[in-house]
Amino acid sequence: MQSIKINTAEGASLLIMGGTIDDIRDKLPASGLFLITDTNVKRLYGSVFPPATVLEIEPGEKSKTLEVAGDLCRQLLEAGADRSSFILGFGGGVVCDVAGMVASIYMRGVRHAFVSTTLLSQVDASIGGKTGVNLGTFKNIIGTFSQPEFVLCDHRMIATLPEEELQSGIGELVKHGAIGDRNLFFDITASMGRIYDRDPVVLGDLITRAVKIKAAVVRRDPLEKGPRRVLNFGHTFGHVLETFYMIPHGVAVARGMIIAAGLSVWKGEMPYSELRMLEVAIAESGMESDYDLPADVINLISRDKKSEKGSVNFVLLRSVGKTIIRRIPLKELGAFVDYYRERRDRSQSV
Ligand code: GLY
Repeated sequence: MQSIKINTAEGASLLIMGGTIDDIRDKLPASGLFLITDTNVKRLYGSVFPPATVLEIEPGEKSKTLEVAGDLCRQLLEAGADRSSFILGFGGGVVCDVAGMVASIYMRGVRHAFVSTTLLSQVDASIGGKTGVNLGTFKNIIGTFSQPEFVLCDHRMIATLPEEELQSGIGELVKHGAIGDRNLFFDITASMGRIYDRDPVVLGDLITRAVKIKAAVVRRDPLEKGPRRVLNFGHTFGHVLETFYMIPHGVAVARGMIIAAGLSVWKGEMPYSELRMLEVAIAESGMESDYDLPADVINLISRDKKSEKGSVNFVLLRSVGKTIIRRIPLKELGAFVDYYRERRDRSQSV
């Protein structure tokens, strides 16, 4: 087990990597605990839940709505939760996003923490204090920054993860190597078989190294005023693909990373050989990644959180492991999209 601390002016978070439920029992209140989970997680892990009032949501992205968050607040009120209550989000990315948001708005904020059960949430979603729900097809448009007091990542829980969700987590794992650690990137690609075997030791090592990258970024910029934007690598196009094709988040981010790396080459920031390396790594990870961009992609990006006044702060690569942020006018991005779609069509017709 390894602990990583994120201390920020807005709050501190302890990340317990490789621990078990027994490692958090003394961090939970003796009473006033409200546990938010989904029906799948409750079926799998309900027997190890600590004593708590349990509130359930439906699994999946469809639960990331203001209505679900509002309904949870109503249930908390009816169950007698007050300002001294403690919310434990127990689940994957959707549970952590929604439970974190509810904890940050219920009675203007109550204490909260997570038990993170999926690869995607252990490597990204439960870490760093972002909470959020979607508005129609627009991802995470409503949300808050609120650091969980602690996050437990028990890597053995990944054993029960369906393959599609494992692949989603692999996308975010690869992202951390691509933005911050070339050796991690190579180790992830070399360990794909062990990842699919859900080997908790290999997963623990790779996840912990990825989380250290994320923790360092969040410490510098907890509210995403600048440097934290690097964590959005692959997300500008990825979010469009995720909602358009209704595919898992990390799978969409994987394709988004390839397109963003293509843009990096197009803008002369990165050699083509680095793009190929990323393409090969993602192909070898076994996930489907050949999604075309929808025709109105620029219109959709213009309403993304990352767009400001007709431009988007875009995370590009200089090489695998090294990022650069450029402000790109939507018009220029449109020219790249035309080039990208034409090139994809041509390569498909040969
Ligand atoms: N998932 C991106 C971030 O936490 O900033």
